[in-house]
Amino acid sequence: MVSFSLNNTSAWGMLTIALHMLAISAKCLPEPTTPSTSVGFTAADSKFGSQIEGAATDAQGNLYAVNFGTEADKDTLGIAAGTGAQSLFYKDADATTWFNSMRFVKTSSGIVTYAGDVVGHRVLKLTGATGSLTSSVFCQDPTMLQPNDMAAASTGDLFLSGMNYTATTTKGNGDLWWCNAQGQAKRLDTLERTNGIEVSPNNQYLYLSEAQNKDGAVIGNRIWRYEVDPSTGVKMGADGTPTKSLFVDFATLDQTQATDIDGMRCDTQGNLFVTRNGLGQVVVFSPERKELSRITAPFKSVKNLEFGGSDGKTLYIVGTCDAVEGTTDAQKGCVSAHPGQQNPGLSWSLLQ
Ligand SMILES: *[C@@H]1O[C@H](CO)[C@@H](O)[C@H](O)[C@H]1NC(C)=O
Repeated sequence: MVSFSLNNTSAWGMLTIALHMLAISAKCLPEPTTPSTSVGFTAADSKFGSQIEGAATDAQGNLYAVNFGTEADKDTLGIAAGTGAQSLFYKDADATTWFNSMRFVKTSSGIVTYAGDVVGHRVLKLTGATGSLTSSVFCQDPTMLQPNDMAAASTGDLFLSGMNYTATTTKGNGDLWWCNAQGQAKRLDTLERTNGIEVSPNNQYLYLSEAQNKDGAVIGNRIWRYEVDPSTGVKMGADGTPTKSLFVDFATLDQTQATDIDGMRCDTQGNLFVTRNGLGQVVVFSPERKELSRITAPFKSVKNLEFGGSDGKTLYIVGTCDAVEGTTDAQKGCVSAHPGQQNPGLSWSLLQ
């Protein structure tokens, strides 16, 4: 009896231990990153500088942006993780590098990180593990005006905007470049100041903003739509210049043509989210050019935006902390989080 009882206890014990170990091993599985919807931060909590820009998301929905540190740290990229922690993601070895844009692209060999360098007129490709990333030139051309912002097609083709800010703009003070998936750079179009840029779902359209100045004042802001063409970047007309159509002109829409368009991003349905830098607003357009909604940020200098969070439906708006809950600090970069958007972001969705 004693022996049986012991064996019995032992058997139950073993089973209990086995079940317990199962539970432990289940707990040891990597838990999905669950970005909180409170990843937005104000000046008091910000570790980013006022030149925060180039918002991007990884597959987990963590938010990335340029200018981690002080305003002078233009050669840096930072991450605002789902936990709310902000840290340095990458600092370039070349101190003259000035990052202003960033994209993650899923390729057959994994997810590739691209960062645009305004001063070097180039796009760097970052490889390696976080903490030991190294860069190589993906594409470069000294005659690029910048690049200012960058859009990625799912094929790995990149499109770049850029501007030469002059008191009175003329055609040529803005450009559109294409870096094909092999890293060959080609100028596709010349315009006045170009800035916001995005590729729509299924690599159908390319959206590009254009602004005009006259005698030091901003007098025009509109968005053009090109058709993406895998062999020529965008569809060309018989004269060899790109075919494009006017998507939105803020002069006719709401008379806010004196306010610059900055970053632009699509959701999975092709709705275009457009920052109005100075108005503290993001305007949302359907692919049919219909204005769907306006989202208000707690600061006016809304520079860029991206969707992230665990479901890809949190819209993050990044900009200078010019007035956030009373903690105005124009030296800092702020992030405003807007969870519960109708659709996930396109970039986030392409990384899943
Ligand atoms: C920028 O515009 C100014 C004024 O038109 C011009 O003198 C200068 O050459 C331009 N720079 C570039 C890089 O195009």
